[in-house]
Amino acid sequence: MANSVTITRRNRRYPDFLRQRRNQTCLVMSTVFIVVLATLGFAHLITNGVRNKASYSGDMLLRVFPKSENDKKFLIHNFDSLDIDANVLGLPSNSRYVPVYIYAKAGSMHRVMKTLHGRSLSFNVLIQDMQKLIDREERSIAERRSNQSSELFDFENYHPYETIVTWLESLTNTSSLISLSSMGKSFEGNDLLLVSISTNNSERNDGDSDFHQTTEHEQESYENSQQKRGVRSMSATGKFHQNKAVIYINCGMHAREWITISSCLWMINELVSSEKSSVNSPLLDMYDFWFVPVANPDGYIFSWTTDRLWRKNRSPGNTCNGVDLNRNFNVRFNASSRNPCSSIYGGIEPESEEETKALTKLLYLHSHRIKATLFLHSFSQLWLSPYGVNNSYPKEYPKMRRVMSKAVDATKSFFGTDFQFGSFANVLNSAPGTAIDYCYEKFGIVYSFLVELRDRGTNSFMLPLEEIKPTAIETWGGVIAMALAINEQQIPQTNTIDRQK
Ligand SMILES: *[C@@H]1O[C@H](CO)[C@@H](O)[C@H](O)[C@H]1NC(C)=O
Ligand SMILES: *[C@@H]1O[C@H](CO)[C@@H](O)[C@H](O)[C@H]1NC(C)=O
Ligand SMILES: *[C@@H]1O[C@H](CO)[C@@H](O)[C@H](O)[C@H]1NC(C)=O
Ligand SMILES: *[C@@H]1O[C@H](CO)[C@@H](O)[C@H](O)[C@H]1NC(C)=O
Ligand SMILES: *[C@@H]1O[C@H](CO)[C@@H](O)[C@H](O)[C@H]1NC(C)=O
Repeated sequence: MANSVTITRRNRRYPDFLRQRRNQTCLVMSTVFIVVLATLGFAHLITNGVRNKASYSGDMLLRVFPKSENDKKFLIHNFDSLDIDANVLGLPSNSRYVPVYIYAKAGSMHRVMKTLHGRSLSFNVLIQDMQKLIDREERSIAERRSNQSSELFDFENYHPYETIVTWLESLTNTSSLISLSSMGKSFEGNDLLLVSISTNNSERNDGDSDFHQTTEHEQESYENSQQKRGVRSMSATGKFHQNKAVIYINCGMHAREWITISSCLWMINELVSSEKSSVNSPLLDMYDFWFVPVANPDGYIFSWTTDRLWRKNRSPGNTCNGVDLNRNFNVRFNASSRNPCSSIYGGIEPESEEETKALTKLLYLHSHRIKATLFLHSFSQLWLSPYGVNNSYPKEYPKMRRVMSKAVDATKSFFGTDFQFGSFANVLNSAPGTAIDYCYEKFGIVYSFLVELRDRGTNSFMLPLEEIKPTAIETWGGVIAMALAINEQQIPQTNTIDRQK
């Protein structure tokens, strides 16, 4: 989610390995209002010998409709600075004021209501108790897993990082279209996997090293660029001669947005299956696809083991851990949150994080081939273009708009799921340091989009298992439409996409 549910933790009981950070306070808590909310409503850990997980019992998700621009500012100011969710949803069709999501911690409802009533703002309660959804999800994952009789990878379930890696490795072993490599390591030393799908991989896999493994020349060129930042072009390229354009798809940059990872895996499988069905082969004649299915592995692992609603990476800080990777890029970085306890904390400096560095390096080395970058997030159902940083429309906005409009139409054509689209800052609110601005500003990649998948708050990040497949199908439909629109082709006929899958 672009800008959203954030849980400020204070006085929370941490497991031993985090204990040194325990008594720290967060900088935002400067008013009575804030302190009341924070102290009444933080998540706590349940310790029962077996699990040691953050609890969100009684935390609620509300939707508020601002009636004026000032209402919106009021909400964003009051709730965003509080680190409570102030994510703005897509534009309702007949209003210029977008609804705002507010994450109300247990015990803070009274305060939140008073604030909203004080301004005569009405709201709906979308989720009564976040923990119930977390528990339901945990149960259904386990139940579906125990029901499963075959050894095949189950695309309709969520999977831990290790299972994903193993599946990708076995797929690589069996398909010549796919090449798996590591772009680098996360802070905790997990591989940042890059999956390349290309009809040209077979020529490349001649015992030589992985394609993105940089040559000395590239490494030198990259290092020089670090000294003269802003240099855009480069003479990459060692052994990568083919000119096919690349569509880059990044999932799981925010740890709790599990549906994005599931969608990435599903898309990878669709493309690789085209070996047999050749349904997607026209796409692979046009493009190579590069996926980063788990862009924030440390955070993702943490969201399984410890805190389901964790968003950032896991790099340690003095007061609080983690940096929001989608605020860590070098675009107006100075405007990003300086509060390490905020879930949208930008980090100590631009590209301070290993996960960010790995991506900027990849872009630096290969941007001449990358035609589109897509960053999948959840939730809200939005397709967003630059800029995140301000309300100006980029020079190429008409091109972006045309492609977004086709993508969104295609997405809707499957199950009627409605997506809004527009420039990030205009649909949501302004955000510095985002990946899409970085791709566009620094590398001129016009088709750089952030896509917020399902839903619109009914289940928030705990999207039920039954929705994994439809979400993946409609998202893949949107990606295909985008790819074809960029290539100025027609949206494919319905028979080229299997709607029954
Ligand atoms: C597991 O199997 C049972 C019995 O067939 C079924 O009722 C249930 O819905 C299944 N659960 C999941 C999550 O698939
Ligand atoms: C993939 O193949 C390699 C080499 O043959 C083997 O060591 C590895 O276990 C295989 N991995 C999976 C997940 O099948
Ligand atoms: C890459 O694959 C395409 C077919 O998809 C083929 O036409 C082309 O010659 C290949 N390029 C290289 C450099 O192997
Ligand atoms: C960011 O802010 C710091 C401290 O205010 C300043 O020294 C630095 O020059 C600023 N950087 C940019 C790129 O504006
Ligand atoms: C908005 O940000 C873009 C990208 O940094 C910049 O080119 C543009 O001038 C900015 N617009 C305004 C009004 O500051």
